[in-house]
Amino acid sequence: MTASTADAANETRVPPATSDHVVVFDTTMRDGEQSPGASMSIEEKLELAKILEDMRVDVIEAGFPIASNGDFEAVKKIAQLVTESTVCGLARAGVADIERCAEAIRPAKRGRIHTFISTSPQHRDHILRMSPEDIIEAVHASVTHARNLCGDVEWSAQDATRTERDVLRRCVETAIRAGATTINIPDTVGYTYPSEYAAVFRDLIENVPGADGVIFSTHCHNDLGLAVANSLAGVEAGARQVEVAINGIGERAGNAALEEIVMALKVRGDALPFPTRVRTEHITRASRYVSAITGFPVQFNKAIVGKNAFAHESGIHQDGMLKNSETYEIMRPEDVGQGGTNLVMGKHSGRHAFREKLKDLGYELGQNALNEAFGRFKDLADKKKSVFDDDIIALVDDALARGAERVQVKSLRVIAGTEGPQEALLTLVVDGAESTATATGDGPVDAVFNAIHKIVPHDAMLRLFQVHAVTEGTDAQAQVSVRLEEDGRIATGQAADTDTLTASATAYVNALNNLFARKEKSAPEPLTASGF
Ligand code: KIV
Ligand code: ZN
Repeated sequence: MTASTADAANETRVPPATSDHVVVFDTTMRDGEQSPGASMSIEEKLELAKILEDMRVDVIEAGFPIASNGDFEAVKKIAQLVTESTVCGLARAGVADIERCAEAIRPAKRGRIHTFISTSPQHRDHILRMSPEDIIEAVHASVTHARNLCGDVEWSAQDATRTERDVLRRCVETAIRAGATTINIPDTVGYTYPSEYAAVFRDLIENVPGADGVIFSTHCHNDLGLAVANSLAGVEAGARQVEVAINGIGERAGNAALEEIVMALKVRGDALPFPTRVRTEHITRASRYVSAITGFPVQFNKAIVGKNAFAHESGIHQDGMLKNSETYEIMRPEDVGQGGTNLVMGKHSGRHAFREKLKDLGYELGQNALNEAFGRFKDLADKKKSVFDDDIIALVDDALARGAERVQVKSLRVIAGTEGPQEALLTLVVDGAESTATATGDGPVDAVFNAIHKIVPHDAMLRLFQVHAVTEGTDAQAQVSVRLEEDGRIATGQAADTDTLTASATAYVNALNNLFARKEKSAPEPLTASGF
């Protein structure tokens, strides 16, 4: 296929390079998933894709199709599902990678191939063993091949910020000549600082032929805590795409956080007149969902989405806030979808009010999911005097994060306290059949997990067990995350309940279900740094 026929196959929506609009490229499902332990199931990725599309993210990087069958399927299914955002897949600079990626994004209304190769001396000499000339040849071949398969091609210079400027210019020029429509300049190792990063963009935009016909993109890692500052410096210097991840998850210290960049551009539009299309009221929901499915908690003082981001503790601040919220708030909690802890409903609330509440919180559930959530809400309202927005969010996210349920918790009784050994009597339903076991342990949680082991023998190792209270008070729901690992496969489960031990058992069982689903679907293949 030629480049022009590829254009017709995939509708492209690349804003003109002169526009001040900034394209938001979300890589939570690709670079974000590369955070150790942050793997997501296909169902979770599909739900996240819907959340990102509703939020009006321009490009969703849905995965690395050649990395595993699971990644391929996830990208393909997201390409079938999403119609408003561009769906992108990652590929190294080799024929097999690019063709697998093209196949995965083929169903997309708007698809993009993102191909990359390392350009820095460190990567050239120690990983690829290629000269600058070899790299330039590979850029030409890979981008040309990708462009023949898709009208929208992004090319990235991995480790660009440690690359000699003349080599980087030649690589970028080659990618543009071969048909790349977006040029990404990653700070792969989080090494640069704002003025240096800005200078790289200015140099490329001023000196590379054809630079005015493409979009330049930032992609910053947070090793020195500078990812957001560097990305904004890139935008000021002419970049018009930012690659970001929800909650800033990603390799090592993570990527630039979507919520921080988008809100910086919104709040400081006076000084940074580069708007995005993102519907910022959806930010908190996206943040909570990513935290729930990865089991990565959001730190309390995290900018924009932390629990304390809009809390005012000192008397002076509270006094100012009561007089006028502008005294200590530069944005309103509602702007990012933080509704506060409103007392919402109790056990007398009906289905209609519940559905309306879910709508306010940004959830559109189908009839079955709504009925299930309503039943769980009623159970919760029976146990807990006051049901807050955060309780409802935990309850619904918990249900959404569940994969296929081969194993379910039927009942649990635990003997705990100072007189050990602690003991758990557990009944599970496994593939439709009930099974009961008693187990002791070093503490009640250990006893519960040992009972699960007895009923469902498995080799998975427990990698994370984490509990936090959804709201305040002794009747608060406990939200528990469990991460399991077996043969390099990682699965996370999560559950909320007013009983911490029930939540722990359910979270463990959810993680097991996700692990089983992953085993059935994916056959990981080892990846090396280049596609050659
Ligand atoms: O950090 C990086 O260089 C990357 C590339 C694959 C774009 O994630
Ligand atoms: Zn990266």
